[in-house]
Amino acid sequence: MDSMQTQTSHKGAHTPLYVSVADRLARMIDQQTFLPGDRVPSIRNLSRQLKVSINTVKEAYALLEDRRLLEARPQSGYYVCNRLPDIPADPEIAPSDISPTGVSIGEMVEMIMRNSGEPGLVQFGCAIPNPDLLPIAKIGRMLANEARLRPVDHVSYTMPPGCKRLRTEIAKRLLDCGCTVKARDIVTTTGCSEAVFLALQAICRPGDTVAVESPVYFNFLQLIQTLGLRALEIPATQREGMSLEALRYALDHNRVKAVLCITNFSNPLGACMPEERKRELVNLLESRDIPLIEDDIHGDLGFDNERPLAAKAYDQTGNVILCSSFSKTVAPGYRVGWIVPGRFQPEIERLKMVVNLAAAAPTQLALAEFLANGGYDHHLRHIRRVYAQKVAEMSEAIGRHFPAGTRVTRPQGGFCLWVEMPDEVDALRLYARALKHKITLAPGPVFSATGKFRNCIRLNAAFWTDRLEGTLKTLGGLAKEMVGS
Ligand SMILES: Cc1ncc(COP(=O)(O)O)c(C=O)c1O
Repeated sequence: MDSMQTQTSHKGAHTPLYVSVADRLARMIDQQTFLPGDRVPSIRNLSRQLKVSINTVKEAYALLEDRRLLEARPQSGYYVCNRLPDIPADPEIAPSDISPTGVSIGEMVEMIMRNSGEPGLVQFGCAIPNPDLLPIAKIGRMLANEARLRPVDHVSYTMPPGCKRLRTEIAKRLLDCGCTVKARDIVTTTGCSEAVFLALQAICRPGDTVAVESPVYFNFLQLIQTLGLRALEIPATQREGMSLEALRYALDHNRVKAVLCITNFSNPLGACMPEERKRELVNLLESRDIPLIEDDIHGDLGFDNERPLAAKAYDQTGNVILCSSFSKTVAPGYRVGWIVPGRFQPEIERLKMVVNLAAAAPTQLALAEFLANGGYDHHLRHIRRVYAQKVAEMSEAIGRHFPAGTRVTRPQGGFCLWVEMPDEVDALRLYARALKHKITLAPGPVFSATGKFRNCIRLNAAFWTDRLEGTLKTLGGLAKEMVGS
């Protein structure tokens, strides 16, 4: 390795030196100069080779550990992690394939959802958070206290836009997403699902076309189906999310009423759209007067310290409708979500009232108190760290037990893993066989209106512990049987 002359790198003069060192080593790992399992130079040696300080190398190695490229082995040194190959960054986009379709994926999805409530099953299927990582005792106490302190509010309707205290707390938190909004710009909902449902209802009429990522979170397909809409699947990559090139092509050739997109740590790919791409997406849709419905439910679950912005941060005109909830971080059963409806606010408030009058008051009050005084940031720091570890460990275990040629995503947030197996593996058959072993999973075809992803599955890493290694081995074994390996 040659010496490191300057502090600049391809990223420019402001890149800290340790990041340049880390990037340089990451490139060597990418180019397979260092292979999985290889020992990389000791801190002292690399410091000598690159003529940088010991501390710089230490920080670079820590960063590479965060990126799951290196692992420290006590008394032995740093080693390249045993990873599976990534899902490739560039999808094979054949624009001529992009055309709207009617949707019908109902039964399989309902089965997967019902599975999530069965205590005897290993929960690799639904993207539910691990209850051990929810602040159950604290939020429960706050719920009881709020009932005692505000008995009348607690049992009253909180007509749209919903509980003022909660909206004020959400408005404060939205600053982290780059959004400067007032409490009055927010409407509380019954979870994020209702927020997306209201947004689609406000914009679309039966027969309209909605552009979604592909693979797409299956509940979006169900909402689209229920409203009599058509889905236009736009290829997405792990690195960038929805392909804006494919979207542009699709918009040129189709009449699209809305775009529905998970911008941060998408489900199932775990993709986080880079900031520049978010801005481009917002501008593209603004210029064509097509609303963007943004689902940011995983935005608080990034493994980096810095929270990614919402696309809404780039919205100047109210064309972006931001939807989210506390279902992944605090309490899915409380059903507390919200929507920032932009220019659709009057219609969304009207629909919310028509559909169910108001979101539940007790859980809104408890969430407001939790956000104000419950240590939400501290809680997030903890669960982000734990989920990062679970995601890394489970993806390594997949590498040990799944058929040769299997590839897995490497998300930087959330807890979903998208696993692409050899072509011979049929995910629907694997689902049925796994269920006999009391294992659930989400088969690839439910993430598409057109039955794509037959050899893919989504696995939930939220419950991962070493004790599940045997279960994963069983699942990998079932997949191997289909390959004949
Ligand atoms: C991307 C995404 N949006 C929405 C939801 C549902 O959110 P809620 O439970 O708040 O309705 C989920 C749950 O899995 C999800 O993954």
